[in-house]
Amino acid sequence: MFTFAHISDIHLGYDRGDGGARAAERAARVLRTLDGLPGELDAVLLTGDIADHGTDAEYAEAAALLGASRHRLLHCPGNHDARGPYRAALLGGDPQDGSPVNRAVRVRGAEGSATFALCDSSIPGRGDGRLDDATLAWLDGVLAQVTRAEPLFVCFHHPPVPLYGQYVDPVRQFGEERLAAVLDRHPHVTALLCGHSHTPAVTGFAGLPLVAAPGVVSTLRMPWEGEADGPMDHALPPMLAFHVVDDAGRLTTHFRVVP
Ligand SMILES: [Fe+2]
Ligand SMILES: [Fe+2]
Repeated sequence: MFTFAHISDIHLGYDRGDGGARAAERAARVLRTLDGLPGELDAVLLTGDIADHGTDAEYAEAAALLGASRHRLLHCPGNHDARGPYRAALLGGDPQDGSPVNRAVRVRGAEGSATFALCDSSIPGRGDGRLDDATLAWLDGVLAQVTRAEPLFVCFHHPPVPLYGQYVDPVRQFGEERLAAVLDRHPHVTALLCGHSHTPAVTGFAGLPLVAAPGVVSTLRMPWEGEADGPMDHALPPMLAFHVVDDAGRLTTHFRVVP
């Protein structure tokens, strides 16, 4: 059994005329809720858009926030993130390194271990996403190396399928047939986990479950919910997901509102 939380799109520095105070409060509230759980989590996954503008100040805020958690934090960048400052503040890396931020992390949980392939689907300067050729080659190698019968997740920011929200579909992950070809070679992947959608969504891709975490900073309205005030709902409280993988390798996801 492996149990972890999945949050996304905290957008530190997102300024609604409050200097980013609202975004900071919501992110802190979610992490405080996770820290206050009476039970244990094996990890907390954050699938990108950590900073809103990718500034050093936003990453300093992120490093302090994430570093204060009692949980093992895993993260990948989103389209609002900037690779150099992200690397420097959150990974102790070279701020001049603008290559994709790809990492494979194996986490030893209380009752078992899991591997997370954390992929960079961002394209610097753009809202849409793509796993570049070097990232896909790296991912292919990571998935080939994991031969244990334990949970294996491929994580990135941009969903590689439409979710039927008009705001997110034009900036989803494209070139997805290349990702599908890699995944087809590694049928032991448990699931694909993403963010970017600002709405909790469950679908499938390449024969695997694909779960998009809800957004912490805001929630995307679907067309049938009405978009007269704009596509983003800022009044709904933040939400998060809990993922459980049982010993048979089956993923179950629970969604929670954080009041
Ligand atoms: Fe976002
Ligand atoms: Fe995004």
